[in-house]
Amino acid sequence: MHNAALAALGLNWRYLAFPVPPDQLREALAGAAAMRFVGVNLTVPHKRLALDMMDQLDESARAWGAVNTVRFEGQRADGTWQPIGQWTEPEEPARVRMHGFNTDADALLQALAEDLQWQPRGRSVLLLGAGGAGRVAALKLAASGVARLYLVNRTLDKARAVAEEIRTRYPECQVTLDYPHEPVDLLLNATSLGLRPQDPLPLDTARFPLRLAAAVYDMIYRPAETPLLQAARAAGQPAANGLSMLLYQGTRALEIWTGQPAPVAVMRRALMEHLH
Ligand code: ATR
Repeated sequence: MHNAALAALGLNWRYLAFPVPPDQLREALAGAAAMRFVGVNLTVPHKRLALDMMDQLDESARAWGAVNTVRFEGQRADGTWQPIGQWTEPEEPARVRMHGFNTDADALLQALAEDLQWQPRGRSVLLLGAGGAGRVAALKLAASGVARLYLVNRTLDKARAVAEEIRTRYPECQVTLDYPHEPVDLLLNATSLGLRPQDPLPLDTARFPLRLAAAVYDMIYRPAETPLLQAARAAGQPAANGLSMLLYQGTRALEIWTGQPAPVAVMRRALMEHLH
């Protein structure tokens, strides 16, 4: 999706994938900076490791404790910093710094708004999963005004830790570590159950029947229709997969690097062509 976007924007850049051993992340980032890369995206487990390696942290990365987007910035002669991708000085920058952002959490809310016309304020959510993705989703929902969060995770201790973090940072959000006994405005899957064809549903439908969820979002995008989404659609619920979240974390990263609006339709088309 990024290469399609770069072509549409007329930028002579390339987006490439580099497998980097976690114990060499620091060297890899320093190398990218030395080669005057515009930016990089990071994925698990690098997102959390990179936090301590940044020279600057955007509020988005600080708030969620994870960096998925790095922007390299060069120092101008007057001492100020400008993104390498937007460099306008005649001279090459003498020094480059790393600025860390996180576009995942905003992408989730944008996806919920666009796919399901769903807004968080005052709402109730059943969130499945308290791993890396589940934790960020829980904190972002609480930060965005969700009133009641039901958090269910196979490993209770992880859910407890997330609940504790929410109680400290967003005390107005009520967290319950169990299935709700009432309808909820959204059921959100942030577990990895559904990635493999033989996976069971990520929730116990005897304890929470799907019809009690007004809408269903599954962060998984491949396969496009997890058993959860199939069951939700069969029950007549509005439901969407994680494709839009993947898309919007990418459009936001591109905007951070280029300083221009991302060609969203081009990126969506490229993503769908690649995935299907
Ligand atoms: P991610 O960064 O994608 O969130 P993760 O941190 O490994 O990856 O989290 C995976 C999530 O799926 C966790 O909530 C995990 O539950 P645990 O915290 O108990 O590990 C959940 N998950 C994975 N396999 C599962 C399974 N077989 N049954 C129930 N939950 C599972």
